[in-house]
Amino acid sequence: MGTLIKGGKVVSARETRLADVLIEGEKIARVAPGIEAAGHTVVDAKGMLVLPGGIDVHTHLDMPFGGTVSADDYEWGTRAAAIGGTTTVIDFALQSMGKPMMEAFKTWRAKSEGKACIDYGLHMAVTDLGPNDAWLDDVDEMVRLGITSFKIFMAYPNVLMVNDATIFKLMQRTQKLGALVCVHAENGTVIDVIVQQALAAGHTGPLYHALTRPVTAEAEAVHRVVALSELAGGANTYIVHVSCEEAMREVEAARRRGLPVMGETCTQYLVLSIEDDMGKPGFEDAKYVFTPPLREKKNQAPLWSAVKDDVLQVVSTDHCPFRFKDQKTLGLEAFTKIPNGGPGIENRMQLVYHHGVNAGRISLERFVEVTAEAPAKIFGMFPKKGIVAAGSDADILVWDPEAKYTITAATQSMHTDYSIFEGFEVKGNAQQVFSRGELVVQGGKFLGRVGRGQYLHRGLGEVAGG
Ligand code: URP
Ligand code: ZN
Ligand code: ZN
Repeated sequence: MGTLIKGGKVVSARETRLADVLIEGEKIARVAPGIEAAGHTVVDAKGMLVLPGGIDVHTHLDMPFGGTVSADDYEWGTRAAAIGGTTTVIDFALQSMGKPMMEAFKTWRAKSEGKACIDYGLHMAVTDLGPNDAWLDDVDEMVRLGITSFKIFMAYPNVLMVNDATIFKLMQRTQKLGALVCVHAENGTVIDVIVQQALAAGHTGPLYHALTRPVTAEAEAVHRVVALSELAGGANTYIVHVSCEEAMREVEAARRRGLPVMGETCTQYLVLSIEDDMGKPGFEDAKYVFTPPLREKKNQAPLWSAVKDDVLQVVSTDHCPFRFKDQKTLGLEAFTKIPNGGPGIENRMQLVYHHGVNAGRISLERFVEVTAEAPAKIFGMFPKKGIVAAGSDADILVWDPEAKYTITAATQSMHTDYSIFEGFEVKGNAQQVFSRGELVVQGGKFLGRVGRGQYLHRGLGEVAGG
């Protein structure tokens, strides 16, 4: 006998309807009104929304970066994700310079094995095409292993940045395969000049992380990588963490021209700003040092409109947490030494629901689309993930639209000693979270087994709305 979620409103990107959901084993067996309760364990969902589990396609768990390692490993990061209503993540395996991609694949599988609390996939962050570009063949091998998206960084010179030739060659290969290139778009070499000039002028505080990374440097990189995609014959391209109107307009222009270009923004760019959160006394604003940086508040409305109008298809977190006390403080003397990244995996669903749906900026259906259905489609997991429908994995949220919650580091599960959303009050939260049919979260408590999460062998994704 199964579990019957009864009397709730089932939401997809297309519609909201009253229906019961029958879970049998790991799968959804039926979605229909008036399913007989006989013999099933019944979950009373009257007044509740029944949503597909959230999918966060941009996380950095257990990642070496900025002279340290991100504070959430696979256990803690995926537990926090589940508590916040996210049932799938796609994390980044980082290829080390001078090493084939397979090494990174094995390293990241070892990091996650026995630890992940929810299902997870991997992107491959490409840093080196190898001797005579021999490791371009690794791209084909990765696709066979279920890694169908490849990340490149146009920023972080001498660490992760690749040049245009590398991007172009990678795109030629992914274009042939139908795979996706995800892009951190910022002009890293120009930013480096501005950074060195700021340091020489004695500007060493966290605010200068933001002031040395102008919006034009982001927009220029988006423009350039769109051109590279076009030159490569129309390579499927996904711009990660779009933070400002200028960069978003470049994505919009590319899509208008019919190019296979998509984009995401992240929760922090929708609700935080340089005015509200940077320039705080002491070293406090090191908590908000991530890349791209927080932007002026005037960017928030255009970004929300882009999310609503499908200029941007996804809202993710770029969860890359570092503790304040012993990690962010590595940069006390110079902002360049502050590990870049912020915590957010736990709060994405609450914040996008509250500031999106409750505030009338996006519909309920669009909320489901940008947090679950579109990521599943773009990253080759649909309809296994991303929808409450017969045959799909039973990754389901019983979502209480009236539940009030105050975000605070004091009660969060993420392993940071602060929250960038401290004191934010939200209405709407996951009451119950099912992952492949198993009740893993009830009333904010994680009930699942550590290590139960499975590696997702992803297929090729779709180009959204192209
Ligand atoms: O500051 C950030 N975003 N850290 C993680 C690496 C990246 O650029 O996504
Ligand atoms: Zn990035
Ligand atoms: Zn990132």
